[in-house]
Amino acid sequence: MTNVRDSFHSRIGFVLAAAGSAIGLGNIWGFPTQAANNGGGAFLFVYLLVTLLLALPALYAEIYIGNQAQRNPVSALEYACKDSCPSVGRMAGKIGLVGALMMLSFYTIVAGWMLAHALSAVTELLGLIDLSHWLSTSSTLRNVIFTPIFILLGATIIHQGVHAGIEKWSARLMPLLLIMLIGLIIYILQQDGASEGLALYLIPDFSQVLNSKLIISAMGQAFFSLSIGVGGMMVYGSYMQKDKDIGKLVLSIAALDTFIAFMAGLLIIPALFVAQHSGQQVFVDHHLIGEGQLIFQILPTLFESMGAIGLIVAIGFFSLLSIAALTSTISSTEVPVSYLVEDKGMSRPKATWLVSLVVLIASMLLIANFDALFGLVIRLLTTIMQPLMCLFYFIVVGWIWNRGNKLSDKALQENKPKLKLWGNYLRFVCPILLTVVFVNVAFTG
Ligand code: PHE
Repeated sequence: MTNVRDSFHSRIGFVLAAAGSAIGLGNIWGFPTQAANNGGGAFLFVYLLVTLLLALPALYAEIYIGNQAQRNPVSALEYACKDSCPSVGRMAGKIGLVGALMMLSFYTIVAGWMLAHALSAVTELLGLIDLSHWLSTSSTLRNVIFTPIFILLGATIIHQGVHAGIEKWSARLMPLLLIMLIGLIIYILQQDGASEGLALYLIPDFSQVLNSKLIISAMGQAFFSLSIGVGGMMVYGSYMQKDKDIGKLVLSIAALDTFIAFMAGLLIIPALFVAQHSGQQVFVDHHLIGEGQLIFQILPTLFESMGAIGLIVAIGFFSLLSIAALTSTISSTEVPVSYLVEDKGMSRPKATWLVSLVVLIASMLLIANFDALFGLVIRLLTTIMQPLMCLFYFIVVGWIWNRGNKLSDKALQENKPKLKLWGNYLRFVCPILLTVVFVNVAFTG
């Protein structure tokens, strides 16, 4: 993508890039942490439901807007609202852009943990035990070193261009991640205590399904995992040739992403119970200890228990996760970068470095005020900003664009009854459903 209006050369190029954006720390770190914190099976059940009913349509709407507009998210939303409220569209685009920066500010910290853990296993293999121990223990200094390293890594790739490098890489490496997950699941399920975790994860406690905190967490997690509501998918949609039938593509991205999250839960939740069984404290009051950092203590313990091969597995696992994080980071970074290049006439390298600098400052702020800000920014982004942006997408596609229902108009022109039905689903059901969830949470939460 040396030139911003470069486009994906094939549908598969788009699917790989979008799946690369979707599959990341949200699946392997966010989902299992949230599921463990929110009652396991009940969370999984609501998550699947929300993905199907709301996140999937929102992903469709976001990609559709980008694909039709063929420009960066700020201009795309302005264009979509051009007949009635272009400035509102532009403003929404900028809010999304801030969302992308918020995402990067905490995401790069967690990605830094992955790098540190990968390196910890390498140093242990080399016999540098003290260094290895330091690398696997969370500390402010470690964050201050590894977050910038990760940001730099991402910037180098984005600024060089995405096509040749990262897309081909992720196509080859993501199947490896899946194979590794399956291998680890088989291993963990044979350990003492695993079955308790498995039961918690797979047998929903339906009395919790209507818990509003659980519903809003599941919705936020689903939107985050599919990368919707910050413009990352919109910008990828805009790099795809206009008017491609995107329904099937969206379906396969969502299915792949949800499957990986499900598999990660199958590994992590039993692993938490195995750790608890061997005396480690994992839960206090049904909540995981330590704002999601716990699985980074649990996983290394798990790898250690495998003996000599454990170190190799650890290196592989954390390296693959770092790469998964990188492909997600790229799509978020592309939002402000494409805006600066297209609307502000900046060169791509300059825009990339500027955005990276802003992300670096924001992430350092988070590190300096970790307890107060880290969880807060995540919650703000995933449970408020992303769902609200999705609501806006539904309203744009269903009501504002051409001052009518964009999809139904198109369906009428092309005589496609299924598309019309889908258009009406996005127009009526999705916004109402999303609003109901919000109102419910505002009054009960
Ligand atoms: N979907 C990514 C993940 O699951 C995170 C992400 C969110 C990426 C928003 C881009 C935009 O890790």
